[in-house]
Amino acid sequence: AITNRFYTYERVQEIVAFIQNIVPAKPEVAIICGSGLGGLAELVVDKVVIPYADIPNFPRSTVAGHRSNLVFGILNGISVVCMQGRFHPYEGYTTAACAFPVRVMQMLGAHTLIVTCAAGGVNKSYRVGDIMLIKDHINFPSMAGNNPLIGHNDERFGKKIRPRFPPVGHAYDRQYASQMKQVAAKHNIELREGVYCALGGPCYETIAEINLLRVLGIDAVGMSIVHEVTLGAHCGLRMLGLALITNKCLFEYDSTIEAVHEDVIRISELKANELQQLILDFVGGIKTN
Ligand code: 6GU
Repeated sequence: AITNRFYTYERVQEIVAFIQNIVPAKPEVAIICGSGLGGLAELVVDKVVIPYADIPNFPRSTVAGHRSNLVFGILNGISVVCMQGRFHPYEGYTTAACAFPVRVMQMLGAHTLIVTCAAGGVNKSYRVGDIMLIKDHINFPSMAGNNPLIGHNDERFGKKIRPRFPPVGHAYDRQYASQMKQVAAKHNIELREGVYCALGGPCYETIAEINLLRVLGIDAVGMSIVHEVTLGAHCGLRMLGLALITNKCLFEYDSTIEAVHEDVIRISELKANELQQLILDFVGGIKTN
């Protein structure tokens, strides 16, 4: 049987209490920074940094390009918590373990979750360096029986009673999406909008797999986000997702270019400023409670 018994409500409460002892301020917005995109947390002022290693029962990031800190403070006038470094199922953590910090951040006070990630471009018109607003996702691990909500449904997560069968059809907030489009237009940044698909990794896709994803109408592919958004939907967070296209996926057998992690990091760092600008401006427009 699959058991997600470790990150119980009580364990999340313990971690929340530990953090509140160090940081009394309530974060309103939670931000999860993808590969090479952790620089956003450097823009936070009045910063308090808590390394994951200091937090009891917190996992560690094991991937190059991911730091391992919770960063608290003020970003463009709003109280935030940033995860500098996220957890992926391919690191050996269950999807429930990968995503449980979402519940921690919600319990600390966050009402909004922003997720960012590096992704491969499946849509043939996408170019390296494009930023895609995530309209919706396809969660292949969940479709194959690996959903972070498998196991006991603890109804206490979030502000309302959380249902056994939570709807995720509107996980990405439509109003936030339109606000982000306005922000992008203001900065003259071209924003794509598309469907993100998560696979288990850690292998990049075969050519046959990419061609399969393309006929399914998928625009970008990655190994993150969807388990986080699933728990975010379950505990009632308003969410926004941005994917940075760090490489184009292979469609043809005679192509000689292979996806490599170093390119993902390099492009992320190159384009990180634009993405940071978008988020900075966007959070400035979020109404405080
Ligand atoms: Cl090409 N594939 C996957 N699965 N994840 C990625 C990627 C590609 N590029 C960045 N992340």
